[in-house]
Formats: sequence, C-alpha cells, structure tokens
Amino acid sequence: MSETPNERSRGPGLIVALDGPGSSGKSSVGAAAAQILGYRFCDTGLLYRAVTWLALQRAVESTDTEALVALVAAVELAPDEEGRLARVIVGGVDVTADVRAGSIDERVSEVARVAEIRSALLSRQRALARDGRIVMAGRDIGTVVLPDADLKLFLDASVEERARRRAAERGIAPDGVEAARILADLRRRDRMDSSRPVAPLRAAEDAVHVRSDGNSFDETVAAVVAQIRSAEERAR
Ligand code: DC
Repeated sequence: MSETPNERSRGPGLIVALDGPGSSGKSSVGAAAAQILGYRFCDTGLLYRAVTWLALQRAVESTDTEALVALVAAVELAPDEEGRLARVIVGGVDVTADVRAGSIDERVSEVARVAEIRSALLSRQRALARDGRIVMAGRDIGTVVLPDADLKLFLDASVEERARRRAAERGIAPDGVEAARILADLRRRDRMDSSRPVAPLRAAEDAVHVRSDGNSFDETVAAVVAQIRSAEERAR
C-alpha cells in the first residue's frame, strides 16, 4: 500500500520547496538550513546551468530544442563533502565552478525557458525528492516540480539588495560599473524568469514568504529553519 503524505512526513522528514529569484540566497540559506535539520539539499538551478554550459561547449543554439534536450542525459548532480546535492558533473567531470560563471548567468534564462528542457529535467528532480527529508531550491519547485510539497517557502529580497550581495560575493566594489552590470543582469533575469510562458518564477499560492532585506545570513537561515520545524510539528 502506498504511504500517505502524512505518514511520509512522520518518517523520513518533510519535502520542502524553496523558490525565489536569482541571488535571493536560496542555495546558501537552503543548504545551511538543511544542514542544521539533517535534511538533504538540492540546488536545481545547477541542472539548468549545466545544460547551458554544455550547450556553449558544444555550440548548440538555444533554438535547437532537440539537440538541447539530448544534452540533459550527460548532466548529473552529486553530493559535495557535506552531502548536499550542490555539485554538478558532466561526462564524469566536476563543472560546478564553471557553471556559476558570469557567461552562464547571461545565457541560462534562454535555456530555462525551453519547455522541452523543463520537462526533461522534471522527472529527475521529482526522483531526487521522492525519499523526503529534503530542501529543494529553484524557481518552480512549489508550483510545478513538487506541487504536493509538505512546505513551500518563497525567499525574496529587493533586486538592489540581491545585486549588492552578488557583488560582495564576487569581491566587486558596490558603486562601480561592474556592480551596475550585475544589477542590470539580475533585473533582466527576473524579467525573463517571471515572464516565460512555461513554469514562470512565482510563489505558489500556499507558499510562506520569507523576505531577507535587512537580515543577516544567520537570521534568514533561522527564519527558514523555524518554518520547517513548525511544519514538522504540524505534520506530527
Ligand atoms: O538559481 P540559479 O540562478 O542558479 O538558476 C539559474 C537559472 O535556472 C535561472 O535563470 C532560472 C533557472 N531555473 C529554473 O528555471 N527553474 C529552476 N527550478 C531552477 C533554476
């Protein structure tokens, strides 16, 4: 007999969807919260980034849907030294650092709007979440990938705050041309991710919003951990 969602919740822990725009801190906050709670963590953006990286390597145009979809089979997520699914492997090689480069930021939204790519990645993501006790971060996890997630969180901050954080991460001065480019790129990606016809970035109706403007990293992690613990209580 198949288990009901509540039985699953009591056992191996919850399935938590964590969505939000670029540089909202989903990956770092989600990974830290998962670690505190003994959950697995999965950063689904890496899958889209890896397909984009491979398309650039192999000179596949984002309009060549068939060739793009064929790239999906070569991409896999792997655990890092702390067990988080935050490494991406292509053809046996760890390309995690390459897929986070600025050149990928510029192209990834184009690839992520291809419906066939999204459906090719869907079953992968669902299979990863099946065993529960996981925080899965992305853009459409609560709306499309895991609509029955036990808890849906939507992490957000103003675009200016997100741009400041991204510049700081990359050691870029806050007032220069480079910082202005980061802000413009985030605005462009927000627009593309939110306006694409398939699985646009938006909060699920039943998502809990966590805003991180003005919060320290630890405060945001604590807010996410508190939401997951209350959801665990409710599921008991
Ligand atoms: O979270 P990120 O910046 O690493 O995501 C990279 C891109 O992938 C981003 O432009 C949106 C897309 N993406 C998506 O469409 N759906 C997801 N579940 C995760 C990421």
